[in-house]
Amino acid sequence: MLLETMGVTMRFGGLTAVNDVTLGIEKGSICGLIGPNGAGKTTLFNILSGVYKPTGGKILFEGEDITGLLPFKVNIKGISRTYQTIHLFGNMTVLENVLIGMHPRMKTGFWQACFRTQKQRDEEKESIARAEDLLDFVNLREKKDQISSSLSYGEQRLLEIVRAMASSPKIILLDEPAAGMNSREKMDLNDTIKKIRDRSMTVLLVDHDMGLVMKATDYIFVLSFGKKIAEGSPSEVKNNPDVIAAYLGDDDL
Ligand SMILES: Nc1ncnc2c1ncn2[C@@H]1O[C@H](COP(=O)(O)OP(=O)(O)O)[C@@H](O)[C@H]1O
Ligand SMILES: [Mg+2]
Repeated sequence: MLLETMGVTMRFGGLTAVNDVTLGIEKGSICGLIGPNGAGKTTLFNILSGVYKPTGGKILFEGEDITGLLPFKVNIKGISRTYQTIHLFGNMTVLENVLIGMHPRMKTGFWQACFRTQKQRDEEKESIARAEDLLDFVNLREKKDQISSSLSYGEQRLLEIVRAMASSPKIILLDEPAAGMNSREKMDLNDTIKKIRDRSMTVLLVDHDMGLVMKATDYIFVLSFGKKIAEGSPSEVKNNPDVIAAYLGDDDL
C-alpha cells in the first residue's frame, strides 16, 4: 500500500469528525472518498496532509509512520493536495502559482540564491520549462502571464491541480475539484484525472459529483458521520444498502 490510515480518529471537542478510519490506497490507483456533507472527508484530507494531527491512530506512507509531520514535510515525502475552496495567490500570475508549488523540490541553497549562481539560473530555467509543461497539461499555457484571479472558476481549479502536481508528488489528494465547474469542464476533468495517473501519480478524489467519482475511480471508500461504512469498486459501492441509506435525502447519488 502507498498510503494507509490505521484507526485514525479526529475529535474536535465533543464532536468526532473522523472515527476510527482504516483504509489503504494502492500505488497507481485512482481512489474515491465519498460521503454526505459533514462526513469527515475534508478532515481526513487535513490529517493526511499534515494540517491536523489526529487525536488517535496512525498514518503510514510507503510503510513509514508519518503521523503528525508538518504539512511541508508531508509534501516533501510525496503527498500533495488541493483545497475545497480555491487557495491560489490571486494577484500572482498563473506561471508563478505553479512555480510556488514546486518550491519544496528546489535544490539551491541559501548562498547560491543570494549570489544567483549558474546552478540557480539553470534550475530556474528548468523549473519554468516544467511549469509550462504542466500548464500545457490543462491547456493553460497561453494564459501563463495572466493574473490567476482573471481565470474562470473552472480554470482556477485546474491551476490548483497542476500546482499540486508541481512538487512531483507520489499521491495527489483532490478535494472537490469539480465544485463550480460546468458540465463540459467536468467531462474534461475526468480525462485530466486519468492523465494524472498516467504520470505515475496515485489519486485520491473527493467530489460531490457522483457521476464523476463513479466514472473516474477504480476503488471507493465511503464515510458517514466520520466512520467508514463501505469500500469497494464503484458498482459495489453504488449497490451497497448501507451507502444508499447514508445518502437517503441527499440528492448526490
Ligand atoms: N476545525 C474544526 N473544528 C470543529 N469542527 C470541525 C472542524 N473541521 C471540521 N469540523 C466538523 O467535522 C465534521 C466533518 O467536517 P468535514 O470534514 O468538513 O466534512 P466533509 O468534508 O465530509 O463535508 C463536520 O461536522 C464539521 O463541522
Ligand atoms: Mg469537505
